[in-house]
Amino acid sequence: MALKLIVTGGAGYVGSVCTARLLEAGHEVVVVDDLSTGHADAVPDGARFVEGDAAEATASLLGEGFDGVLHFAAKSLVGESMTDPAKYWHGNVITSIRLLDAMRDHGTPRLVFSSTAATYGEPESSPIKETSPTRPTNTYGASKLAIDHAITSYARAHGLAAVSLRYFNVAGAYGSYGERHTTETHLIPLVLQVASGNREDVKIFGDDYPTDDGTAVRDYIHVVDLADAHLLALQHAVAGEHRVYNLGNGTGFSVQQVIETCREVTGHPIPAAVAPRRAGDPAVLVASSDRAREELGWKPERADLTGIVADAWRFAQERRNA
Ligand code: UFG
Repeated sequence: MALKLIVTGGAGYVGSVCTARLLEAGHEVVVVDDLSTGHADAVPDGARFVEGDAAEATASLLGEGFDGVLHFAAKSLVGESMTDPAKYWHGNVITSIRLLDAMRDHGTPRLVFSSTAATYGEPESSPIKETSPTRPTNTYGASKLAIDHAITSYARAHGLAAVSLRYFNVAGAYGSYGERHTTETHLIPLVLQVASGNREDVKIFGDDYPTDDGTAVRDYIHVVDLADAHLLALQHAVAGEHRVYNLGNGTGFSVQQVIETCREVTGHPIPAAVAPRRAGDPAVLVASSDRAREELGWKPERADLTGIVADAWRFAQERRNA
């Protein structure tokens, strides 16, 4: 069934890939983005684009009648969330509650929300299930968890069909859509900047973690597999319920392994230097996505790290030559 949807943050990395996949599946999409971190030219052709605040602009559109909202727009820098928390409580929490109010007022039936592994904090056991304790160690994760709680109560009280997807480490690219952060903090794009000649070396944040090679382990998921989970979430959302799903491949790779894979893919030696641990970084974050597999029928098709890095590398080179 073709749906009429609003995608907040559709000019950003995950939002633009998801918009492209929604359009390919035959859905009608209006992208709302304030372009604070997104790029107007990342909005896929075929989507209508409204520049504005995720809550305000969406509220003024909802009267046109929509089947659902996919809410990607957010502040998402962990470090910044600790030095400027107001930006996260206002920009993420208050904005999302205003969005929920507008959806309630207009009777918009479905919501898919971008939550995060950061809601769990330092895990007690691995892999992380949705039933694991949520004890975020940074304001970014706390702000996303607060929104998850708000969604639960709005879904129960107002019959909203809601799904939160807790992303682990998203990477890779899709066609001309990929990661283009002005302030880049993520491992794979930073390592690829070294291979592109835009950075001298990569810093390994800590080599004394209790892992096989001493560097931190993460669960890297291809952005297309992640986007496709959103399409499944829209189909499986149930009125009056808020469902939460972890999205990762269930396999961890260390920082050293990621750098080695980038060397293999790019053919560049990629110098790396050990630096102190980054504050608040857990040693290991690996998802159990059993619930998404069982309830959504989600199956990652691009789980191979080499393929994920190769897509990110192709995208980085195309942007350089553009
Ligand atoms: N790292 C380095 N050097 C770098 C950059 C990162 O060693 O230059 C390490 C980090 O310390 C971490 C790993 O590479 O161990 C991955 O770091 P990223 O910054 O790419 O990703 P994070 O795991 O920190 O963050 C991701 C999401 C966040 C989310 C978090 C959940 O990007 O949005 O998972 O903990 F909050």
